[in-house]
Amino acid sequence: MLSQAEVREIRKEFPILTTKVGDKPLVYLDNAATTQKPRQVIEAEANYYLTANANPHRGAHKLANMATELYENCRRQVAKFLHAYRVNEIVFTKGATESLNLLAYTLAPRLEPGDEILISILEHHANLIPWQYIARERGAKLRYLYLDEKLELDWSDYLAKLNEQTKIVSLTACSNVTGTRPDLSKYFAKAKEFGAVCITDSTQLIPHAPFDVRELGADFAVCSSHKIYGPMGTGVLWGRYELLESMPPYHYGGDMIESVDEQSACFARPASRFEAGTVNVGGVVGLGAALDFVSEIGLENIDEYERHLTELALEAVAQIKGCQLFSVAGTSPAYLRGAVVPFSYEGIHPHDVATVLNEQGVAVRAGHHCAEPLHRHLGVNSTCRASFSFYNTEEEVERFIEALTAVPKLMGLR
Ligand code: ALA
Repeated sequence: MLSQAEVREIRKEFPILTTKVGDKPLVYLDNAATTQKPRQVIEAEANYYLTANANPHRGAHKLANMATELYENCRRQVAKFLHAYRVNEIVFTKGATESLNLLAYTLAPRLEPGDEILISILEHHANLIPWQYIARERGAKLRYLYLDEKLELDWSDYLAKLNEQTKIVSLTACSNVTGTRPDLSKYFAKAKEFGAVCITDSTQLIPHAPFDVRELGADFAVCSSHKIYGPMGTGVLWGRYELLESMPPYHYGGDMIESVDEQSACFARPASRFEAGTVNVGGVVGLGAALDFVSEIGLENIDEYERHLTELALEAVAQIKGCQLFSVAGTSPAYLRGAVVPFSYEGIHPHDVATVLNEQGVAVRAGHHCAEPLHRHLGVNSTCRASFSFYNTEEEVERFIEALTAVPKLMGLR
């Protein structure tokens, strides 16, 4: 496991982590909302603009060729990182939200009235609202898979809901609230027996653990660069090539065509077909640097260390009087879960808890975390959430727990 000395070395690459909140050192525990960026990522993006900026795929000049090469090298890198079958299965987007909208809109023509889309109650709004819209448009039905008492997906509910009408199954690889990490290969293998298209929103897993689209047996996976230490405004859609090839474009414009005449156009093959307009080369180059950064630490090491921090925090929060946890349950230290600690404090609004923690230098998120139906299902309006990265230390977990324990006192309540 990563030692505290190694973590302190890693932290040196993140200048923002030396921020003070008043006179208190920042403890950044909002990593599920966005991760901080290492120097290497910031420099890679800046270097692109300083030395190679041009519009890729278009020009014959030196800079345009450099921009094209950088961009396409990153596509190769992402393909390798996700274990894609082919490089052209990687489509760059603005983020996971755009990737999921792309899928909803381009898969919609396959849906007939009465067809079903199956998602889980764990889903982030990005993997929920696009399906609501498309289901309504096509007369299809959006169905939900619910949870067992441990907050794992309920396998028997899944078996009961899968049927010949199920055309799309779209499941999170890791909940941004409960930290549930379903065994997707099992879920997707079953869905394939019914011929459903299998999608995973892997935004909250890819920064934390090894990820292999082939092992999952998925058809599509999406993620965002900013959750994996890369720049904002960049994301990825991976899809099986034969499916991408059968799908219509999502956006129309420059750089996504073979030829155009006055009344019609012949569209390019994937991935270009889905990348209309000037692409975000700087963001993609930053993402490439971020993948190098996490690969150097090692995803297995990251997973092990972050689960250790999460276990420490979960155990300590469970001891605080008045705190209730909403985390996926499991007692073994090796329990597969995301690096999130969701909780509420009896009688204190989550926003007040987050405000008081901020005064102590501790950054957490409060609200429904873009998972309102999940919160309703859990019987609460909102929660607080601490979320961890490999750059967090054990001492920071202690500071979080100390501040959290003191919240009622700091508010003058008890
Ligand atoms: N989806 C992000 C979160 O969980 C914004 O905080």
